[in-house]
Amino acid sequence: MSNYSHDVLIIGSGAAGLSAALHLGKLGTVAILSKAELNEGSTFYAQGGIAAVLDSKDSIESHVDDTLKAGAGLCNHEAVRFTVEHSKAAIEWLIAQGVAFSKSPNPNSDFEYHLTREGGHSHRRIIHSADATGKAVSTTLANCVKQLPNVELFEGYNAVDLITSDKLGQQEQRCVGAYALNLATQQVETFAARFVILATGGASKVYLYTSNPDVASGDGIAMAWRAGCSVANLEFNQFHPTCLYHPDAPSFLISEALRGEGAVLRRPDGSRFMLEVDERAELAPRDIVARAIDHEMKKLGAECVYLDISHQPAEFITSHFPNIYQKCKDLNIDITQQPIPVVPAAHYTCGGIRVDLSSRTELPGLYAVGEVACTGLHGANRMASNSLLECLVFAKSAAEDIEQQFDQVAATAPLPTWDDSRVTDSDEQIVITHNWHELRQVMWNYVGIVRSDKRLQRAKRRIQLLQQEIHEYYANFRVTNDLLELRNLVVVADLMIDCALQRRESRGLHYTLDHPESDREGVDTVLSHRGDS
Ligand code: FAD
Ligand code: SIN
Repeated sequence: MSNYSHDVLIIGSGAAGLSAALHLGKLGTVAILSKAELNEGSTFYAQGGIAAVLDSKDSIESHVDDTLKAGAGLCNHEAVRFTVEHSKAAIEWLIAQGVAFSKSPNPNSDFEYHLTREGGHSHRRIIHSADATGKAVSTTLANCVKQLPNVELFEGYNAVDLITSDKLGQQEQRCVGAYALNLATQQVETFAARFVILATGGASKVYLYTSNPDVASGDGIAMAWRAGCSVANLEFNQFHPTCLYHPDAPSFLISEALRGEGAVLRRPDGSRFMLEVDERAELAPRDIVARAIDHEMKKLGAECVYLDISHQPAEFITSHFPNIYQKCKDLNIDITQQPIPVVPAAHYTCGGIRVDLSSRTELPGLYAVGEVACTGLHGANRMASNSLLECLVFAKSAAEDIEQQFDQVAATAPLPTWDDSRVTDSDEQIVITHNWHELRQVMWNYVGIVRSDKRLQRAKRRIQLLQQEIHEYYANFRVTNDLLELRNLVVVADLMIDCALQRRESRGLHYTLDHPESDREGVDTVLSHRGDS
């Protein structure tokens, strides 16, 4: 029998999950599962800010247009317009929750908050909280959620799989809950719900080098896939151009906002190179900048390139980027005097579970919001700071859709408990450690910034072997956090490679030496259990 029963089960406590909970917490009972502590997720680490049309000199048309251009002909126009049209309301909502955005007003602007600029944006439209916007958003929303009596928090719960109504012998397919591993007791518990929202974030941990925290292991994508949902555009893995290159800070991001405020990229000999690649130079969209850095590093055999903002006044740098300044200073890099060593690293999963404008997946009762979802907003390349915006806008649309159906969906019948009668404790943990490392290395080396048919086929063969081994291990041994993450990562890696193999052109973030040109028309890559693509 189910351990817990709620009206809504939200899996994930980043911007997407917490926003959805705040919209739904007055409607019914809500459970939020979080794999680690409530704030641990990409949201907390977001730096640059949130894109929105806030300045009277900016326009919805301009934000839409920039997003479409960055998306390289693959965005869903309806999703882009829907998101941008709701951007102002989303920011006003955050301010009403208490998020403290940086206020120093811009010269030439009538807006009281400071707006910065990032790649692909033709206006200053990024509202931010210094260089730690995610921390401000995450901690504020978490505090608000804790005040809602209807919302129950389950920290340290790793959702294993979704439960569908066929477990109850029902004909009509519907998502009715999930199993989750309680990391404190190592027991799998059962959560029944009338509606389930996946808000588990992205899958950049599939790569050896990433800006993402450990929780970004693609769990939601893998769970939805196993439950029969289709996924789309998983070949578009965004590499952030500028992660700090330092052995003591392997995944620290150097915000694109530095380039927005004038920082330039330099080769080891001090010369600039972005002007040779794109007239927008350092503010070209991310796919172009990351590829240019990769090219320079390979051509020169360099371990990194350098980002230089030292020409700006020291006071400007320390007030706009206090955290980045301090982090670098702790590592003996004074960014007011010296350039910062940087390399690209996996940063954002543009594809994901296919959803509509109400965040509905193809499985009734199941919604997907945030980085786990593919709304069509990002197309082949996400524009900077559009991601947190997407979390906010689509969390609200999911909540509105659930509210409309609330009285029509009956309470879920008690669900069967997790059966682990046929498994034993693992005897060879090394299999997990080894496969975890191999998987992330294969993806980095063969499914990286520059691809080829041969590299992708090589990756496919290796990932299939790993998948068999991990599947066997999962069937025989009791689940642990590492095993669950590895099982999901290998599924998502395989889906990413399948998507990449299907796209026989280069577009946005997917660049392949064998098909360097773009087709005339952009078409989504859709993988579905029904076999259509
Ligand atoms: P997350 O914030 O990643 O939250 C995922 C949640 O799901 C976590 O609570 C996690 O514990 C939970 N979870 C995952 N799997 C399970 C499971 N199996 N069971 C239970 N819980 C689970 N975007 C911008 O728009 N602007 C920026 O300035 C910006 N800067 C960034 C800087 C960094 C360093 C990074 C990594 C990303 C940045 N991004 C930025 C991207 C943006 O932060 C993310 O896309 C966004 O925060 C994703 O929010 P989310 O709610 O979908 O997921
Ligand atoms: C950054 O601050 O550079 C990250 C912004 C983003 O990923 O949108």
